[in-house]
Amino acid sequence: MEQTFLMVKPDGVQRNLIGEIVSRFEKKGFQLKGAKLMSIPTELAEEHYGEHKERPFFGELVDFITSGPVFAMVWEGENVIATARQMMGATNPKDAVPGSIRGDFAVTVGKNVIHGSDSKESAEREIGLFFKEEQIVEYKKLI
Ligand code: CMP
Repeated sequence: MEQTFLMVKPDGVQRNLIGEIVSRFEKKGFQLKGAKLMSIPTELAEEHYGEHKERPFFGELVDFITSGPVFAMVWEGENVIATARQMMGATNPKDAVPGSIRGDFAVTVGKNVIHGSDSKESAEREIGLFFKEEQIVEYKKLI
């Protein structure tokens, strides 16, 4: 079954949006497989955002994501990678439709509340960066 990595960013955590965001994915029908509130060390932030290393905003991006606790999660379900991206809305909140997380809760591209993997490859890579295998749970009895 497909898995994705989602993370409530420091702005979302400090604005008390963890519950709202988790609730949206639960209600949609996805299954929470791992979660932790954590501070991201600079080296992990640089690795996670490695593909943006040459971008002018890279320093700002790393400073922001390490500025306070994040809520890192692994979610599982059919087409969860693409569907979660739709539920998050466009990266730049000015283009995110109302009803999406960024459309409802964010204004600027830097502080856009949530991160989500954009492909199977990124999902595997990001889950591996943030979670050990034993931190991903199994559900024996599915409701
Ligand atoms: P995210 O999905 O976490 O992946 C990369 C992030 O870079 C993106 O969300 C934005 O928050 C951030 N980003 C993209 N463009 C800019 C920009 N011009 N200035 C600051 N941050 C940006």
